[in-house]
Amino acid sequence: MDKIEDIAKHNLPIHLAIIMDGNGRWAKEKGKHRVFGHENGVKTVRAVVENCVQIGVKYLTLYTFSTENWNRPKLEVETLMRLLVSSLRKELKTFNKNNIRLNTIGNISALPSKARKELLEVMEKTKENTAMTLTLALSYGSREEIQSAVREIAFKVKNNIISPENIDETIINNHLYTQNLPDVDLLIRTSGEHRISNFLLWQIAYAELYFIDVFWPDFSEHHLVEAIKNYQNRERRFGKTSEQLI
Ligand code: IPE
Ligand code: IPE
Ligand code: MG
Repeated sequence: MDKIEDIAKHNLPIHLAIIMDGNGRWAKEKGKHRVFGHENGVKTVRAVVENCVQIGVKYLTLYTFSTENWNRPKLEVETLMRLLVSSLRKELKTFNKNNIRLNTIGNISALPSKARKELLEVMEKTKENTAMTLTLALSYGSREEIQSAVREIAFKVKNNIISPENIDETIINNHLYTQNLPDVDLLIRTSGEHRISNFLLWQIAYAELYFIDVFWPDFSEHHLVEAIKNYQNRERRFGKTSEQLI
């Protein structure tokens, strides 16, 4: 089985993003409630975060709760928020031990105040850490992100802060939640679904996509290593020809 030590240190993805999917189906398969799947999903998060630091990934972004996930049954939403608070509380020590800075993207003001408070506190207490930036996408939707960027830019145009001719990719980038993050290099989705589900639409323009037919609670170190090795064997041409890359 693939191990972290087997990964070549050159050509690592700088920004890895993961759509952590399949908690509910994992639990159902075992005859348990969806909540049991989410609880076990948290264990995978902890392991993957530590593995990524060990590998040397600089930015890890996890799709934790989408704008659309608010439409799930109230009990499930409440459980997810409760799990968020308890994990943040537990993980602060690990973040500092591993030199991890916590960051968030999404409409954080939509979260219950307890979760928001905990998040801000852990972000504040880890802000000097430099090994890896862990970004949790919470109440995140790419279309909502783009909508709010467009609104802000329009407002600045109206107030003569930006002129329309000057609107370029950099200006758009600077108005997204991800303004301080580089573009995504590798996007992994677990659970066998082959879709993006409103995640980082702008930021994955040239990301390599990797879909794996394993439910999130079963995703482990060797799956992660396999995904990164697979990424390292791809040729990223960014529109050019192979010959131009030499
Ligand atoms: C991912 O697992 C966790 C969240 C979306 C919060 P799901 O809960 O979507 O699990 P499935 O896809 O229903 O199996
Ligand atoms: C995407 O998973 C959101 C997260 C992993 C947080 P979903 O389970 O919500 O996506 P769909 O509904 O299958 O597209
Ligand atoms: Mg799902």
